[in-house]
Amino acid sequence: MAKAAQNPLDLSGRRILISGGAGALGRAMVSRFLDFGAAVVVNDILPDDAAAKALPAHDRLSYVRADTTDEAEVERLLDAASDLLDGLPDTVCCHAGVVEAHPVQRFPVQAFDRIMNVNVRAAFLLARAASQRWIDRGEEGQLVFTTSWVQDVPWPEIAPYNASKAALKSLTRSFARELAPYRIRANAVAPGIVGAGMAKRQWDTEPEYRARAQRAIPLGYLQPPDAVADVFLFMVSPLASYLTGSVLVADGGASLYPMDEDTVE
Ligand SMILES: NC(=O)c1ccc[n+]([C@@H]2O[C@H](COP(=O)([O-])OP(=O)(O)OC[C@H]3O[C@@H](n4cnc5c(N)ncnc54)[C@H](O)[C@@H]3O)[C@@H](O)[C@H]2O)c1
Repeated sequence: MAKAAQNPLDLSGRRILISGGAGALGRAMVSRFLDFGAAVVVNDILPDDAAAKALPAHDRLSYVRADTTDEAEVERLLDAASDLLDGLPDTVCCHAGVVEAHPVQRFPVQAFDRIMNVNVRAAFLLARAASQRWIDRGEEGQLVFTTSWVQDVPWPEIAPYNASKAALKSLTRSFARELAPYRIRANAVAPGIVGAGMAKRQWDTEPEYRARAQRAIPLGYLQPPDAVADVFLFMVSPLASYLTGSVLVADGGASLYPMDEDTVE
């Protein structure tokens, strides 16, 4: 009898750590990873009780509160994750991110620093620490960064965020290039304008943002969080095993053209 094909999305036995995993997109990703068999450690800055409310109760899910902008906290997070997972995570999703919108000429410098700190520095610290541990133990590993379509197309009023995602795209490629000899892969997923989390907050509270976003998505609707989670599922799965240095744009076509009022019908 012919052997049934193995499910190429099967994550059984896999150990995944995700920063910022209690947020809107993170929760969708975590559910996908659990559904496909992985053990998952979620990191966020939320207090334990708030995280417990945000996340599903699951025997393969644990939560570790830590601020990933802090070097010592990142080491503590990796120690805790390794204990909880019974081994180093094989996949680390550097996913935490923040946004704030202001006209570029008035962008508060504190907000600039905060955005760079979380979106770039924290991702760098987590990726660096995980990579060092994989190399020390001679283990393979995989980094998955969360960038955004605005890495390539500057969305108005979030200049530091655009720049942070461009920096993260570059970091993805640097980690991929330097660490390939250690069999450490680094890729990124660049979502579009998602109907959840930070974009949904702006959609709900900023009429100008909403009008612009409605014009900007060729597919014509906000990206469902599950559609983002599907791409991350592919990225962490064996199907993506030959990918390194790849930035997978999944944005409903948003990055196909500029969205300024006078250039969009
Ligand atoms: N929502 C979108 O449209 C969209 C589009 C493209 C990319 N993204 C990216 O996806 C990621 C998640 O965004 P989201 O929409 O789910 O936002 P979100 O605000 O719902 O989630 C972000 C999470 O990161 C956590 N966080 C912030 N600082 C942290 C720190 N120092 N250490 C650990 N955790 C921290 C927050 O507490 C929050 O739970 C971000 O990197 C964001 O840039 C979002």
